[in-house]
Amino acid sequence: MNHETLVAFSKSWGLFYMIGLAVLVLVYVFWPANRKRFDQAKNSILDTDDRPKPAPMEPEKHDHITGRKTTGHEWNGIEELDTPVPRIVLWFLALTTLFAIIYWILMPAWPTGWSYTKGLLGIDQREVVMRQVDKAAADRAVWTDRIAAADFKEIAAAPKLMQYVRDRGQALFGDNCAVCHGVRGTGGPGFPDLAARAWIWGGSPDAIAETIRVGINTTVDGTRTSQMLAFGREGMLDREQVLSVTAHVRSLSGQTLTAEETARLGAGKEIFADNCSACHGEAGRGQQELGAPNLTDSVWLYGGDAQSVYTSVYSGRQGHMPHWSDRLPPTDIKILALYVGTLGEGQP
Ligand code: HEC
Ligand code: HEC
Repeated sequence: MNHETLVAFSKSWGLFYMIGLAVLVLVYVFWPANRKRFDQAKNSILDTDDRPKPAPMEPEKHDHITGRKTTGHEWNGIEELDTPVPRIVLWFLALTTLFAIIYWILMPAWPTGWSYTKGLLGIDQREVVMRQVDKAAADRAVWTDRIAAADFKEIAAAPKLMQYVRDRGQALFGDNCAVCHGVRGTGGPGFPDLAARAWIWGGSPDAIAETIRVGINTTVDGTRTSQMLAFGREGMLDREQVLSVTAHVRSLSGQTLTAEETARLGAGKEIFADNCSACHGEAGRGQQELGAPNLTDSVWLYGGDAQSVYTSVYSGRQGHMPHWSDRLPPTDIKILALYVGTLGEGQP
């Protein structure tokens, strides 16, 4: 039966007669009085059977504790009770079968090669989802149109728009950014903490939007380029020099140094001035144009312990952040830029 005939059939009253008939038959078969008659009929049919009969079982026995009939079988003095299948189970079976049949007819059910039986109700989950997606987009358009038209300052000054930015931004961030930056944007080793407000590339909405658009070390035009050179591996500094400049870097953020590190500070300072200050600044405060992090605060991208700093200087670092210019519409990027700015709210 293909889909068209099924639909044609279902549009006639035939279907309802069929379902009604099925219900009547089931009720008739299971009606207690009728069941007895069926049993009698069955027995009389068996009686006319002229095949050799099995040896007659012992006369009907009853279990003396429960008073139930037994099957007559006995294993080492243990007898099996002849308990019938409860009526409710039979009813349950019948009703679920009936339900399945009706469901097949009403809902999409059977594959028919390229297609499938669509069911009387014409329910198509894909269409339902598409309708919901369209509706959600239409609901959003009210807000996204206003956000597209306003600049960052105007949006930030409008509490209702900012409420929308928070709601929608959270969803966008969860879908696109949380894999790397964490659900709350707090990052982890190699992935910056966006809630810390210690910006590598700048924390204004414009700077954040630019980071999202072009990414970091990507292949798009105008990408942000982040190059921390591999001073040790490339042979620009030897091991001793790397150790010394590491001690100096750790002193910049006021960390407790070992005696060995303290002894290296004089040499480290010089090496820093010669090799590092061009990007990180004389005082190590970083430069947002180059994406060179501030080394004087307690926020670290890769880690401020001696081993992590040593690795940063010895092997270099080239963090990668994907670009979203061709994956998210401009309005979503705008929303995300403002949302990222709210991540550190409530922190000192
Ligand atoms: C060409 C510019 C440049 C120079 C020169 C440079 N750095 Fe960097 N440095 C960077 C950039 C860019 C990053 C960030 C890398 C990233 O985000 O993947 C960085 C990262 C670091 C980090 C990791 C910071 C963190 O938060 O984990 C340390 C430590 C560091 N630099 C120390 C040094 C030292 C010491 C020198 C000198 C020996 C030096 N840098 C020279 C550009 C530079
Ligand atoms: C594949 C991992 C990854 C994903 C996904 C990702 N980022 Fe990043 N993001 C990074 C890394 C790594 C950096 C730091 C790169 C560097 O400077 O070395 C970064 C840096 C940033 C910065 C700059 C931080 C600063 O201090 O200036 C912002 C802002 C940012 N990401 C926002 C986002 C947003 C918004 C999304 C989602 C649309 C996102 N990121 C998705 C990995 C990711």
